[in-house]
Amino acid sequence: MEYRVLSNGVRMPMMGFGVFQIPDHAAARKATAEALAAGYRLIDTAQAYGNEAAVGEAVRESGIQKDEVMVTTKLWISDFSYDGAIAAAERSMKRLGTDRIDLLLLHQPMGDYIGAWRGLERMYRDGRLGAIGMANCYPHVLADLCETFEIPPMVNQVEMHPFFQQELNLRTMESYGVVPEAWGPFNEGRHGLFTDPVLTSIGEAHGKTAAQTALRWNIQRGVVVIPKSVHGDRIRENIDVFDFRLSEGEMERIAAMDTGRSEIVDHFDPEWIRFLHSYRT
Ligand SMILES: NC(=O)c1ccc[n+]([C@@H]2O[C@H](COP(=O)([O-])OP(=O)(O)OC[C@H]3O[C@@H](n4cnc5c(N)ncnc54)[C@H](OP(=O)(O)O)[C@@H]3O)[C@@H](O)[C@H]2O)c1
Repeated sequence: MEYRVLSNGVRMPMMGFGVFQIPDHAAARKATAEALAAGYRLIDTAQAYGNEAAVGEAVRESGIQKDEVMVTTKLWISDFSYDGAIAAAERSMKRLGTDRIDLLLLHQPMGDYIGAWRGLERMYRDGRLGAIGMANCYPHVLADLCETFEIPPMVNQVEMHPFFQQELNLRTMESYGVVPEAWGPFNEGRHGLFTDPVLTSIGEAHGKTAAQTALRWNIQRGVVVIPKSVHGDRIRENIDVFDFRLSEGEMERIAAMDTGRSEIVDHFDPEWIRFLHSYRT
């Protein structure tokens, strides 16, 4: 395992396990248990995924020391205000079965996220949160938040994969000491990522798959990755990326794949913003 160190000194594994789109309790518990058995020590859930309780159970049942696993959850927009964020974080703690959340993120920089962030700062100072961060901040938003908040975000979780690389966002995060974390590191399978000829040929040179090559590329850019799978073989395949290194030439070939846009969400489309505001956890 490789690690990034957050601005508060907390060590964050660069490989984590995402549980988006596993709403079924038993399935989420099983997938999380398989991930923990495979060596993952970072689990990424959210109030919006409806599976915090399953994640909490799997962590407790694993027998792994609580302080050896970093569990991330995220608060949804509808709870954004100072008091609302604190109450929502407390509900997450109940579902996770803990009195301290290792890493708490605000899921979108939308609604009253300034008020919500102040609530997170309060809870962090009280020792109830191990680290705090944002998700889905584009560089101009992140820079504004870092200039505004007393405690800048320690993590910014955004979509990052070979087809949407977000270099400016990466540079902005590095300049403010914010650790980048990639959601959708496989572009959720879009654009033929798993059979892409460039990723496949680079992977073959190392005895690895296109999926492993995409993850390794992000890790070598300093980005924490949180791939999701409900299949044990893929869960194990995805974490098996710490025994090889991509050359500079290989990194450059992947850099040339950038399309500069998301195929999953469009935060610049007012319809998306309306949809996200209407979503209820
Ligand atoms: N902050 C945010 O707004 C946000 C948004 C989206 C996601 N996330 C987080 O990021 C995590 C990862 O993103 P994601 O779940 O959206 O997508 P992803 O990890 O890019 O892709 C997941 C898809 O890839 C498949 N897959 C996984 N490993 C594979 C492999 N080795 N070979 C072939 N197929 C493979 C999975 O299928 P199977 O499950 O059938 O194996 C699933 O369909 C989420 O789970 C969530 O924790 C955060």
